[in-house]
Amino acid sequence: MDGKFIVFEGVEGCGKTSQMQLCAEWLQSLGISVVLTREPGGTALGVDLRRLLLEKSEDKPICEVTELLLYAADRAQHVAQELKPQLAQGKYVLCDRYIDSTIAYQGYGRGLDMNLIHQLNNIATGGLISDITIWLDVDVEVGLARKRKGNVGLDRIEQETIAFHRRVQKGYADLAASSPARIIRVDGSLSKENVHQKIQEIFNLHLKLG
Ligand code: TMP
Repeated sequence: MDGKFIVFEGVEGCGKTSQMQLCAEWLQSLGISVVLTREPGGTALGVDLRRLLLEKSEDKPICEVTELLLYAADRAQHVAQELKPQLAQGKYVLCDRYIDSTIAYQGYGRGLDMNLIHQLNNIATGGLISDITIWLDVDVEVGLARKRKGNVGLDRIEQETIAFHRRVQKGYADLAASSPARIIRVDGSLSKENVHQKIQEIFNLHLKLG
């Protein structure tokens, strides 16, 4: 595969979406062909799965293992239909969340079995891992406050307890510590411009752009 697979991760309100947009514009200005995508919801089927996963509905509860399987199903479809074909065409694929979200949210957050999560991640990805993963590290309270300021209400996962979100944050910290070559921490509390500048430096170094 000639393309590059770049993933953005972090807790709610960490700034992934705006940083991905800035990166896409920057890479395109260098003449690089970029695709922006996300999980869940990077395919037509995934859009339906995302709605099922994130809408808060009292009369349609989702048990924890079902939630895990739905994220895995979204990923399997996304890898096969979108990620692998785009990478094979030499594109730079910028993806909002991937396997580390499942480890952080379903593993650390929900406390589901890590072996099961790794097995499902392997099945869903067929072994596709990122060239680099940017972890935008912000304090959980800061991120949730940013979300609350937005016009849309909080979704099913955002409405989880603060203790849940803190476990997710711990998950990212552990992942970054155990895979330092793949997962690079960026301080997400810096200004939007400064975060973007740090990400540019990381890309230049790790993806040999400069
Ligand atoms: P976001 O795209 O706005 O960040 O929302 C996606 C939500 O789904 C977010 O709360 C994290 C959650 N999520 C999981 O719990 N597990 C996963 O594997 C993925 C990809 C996302």
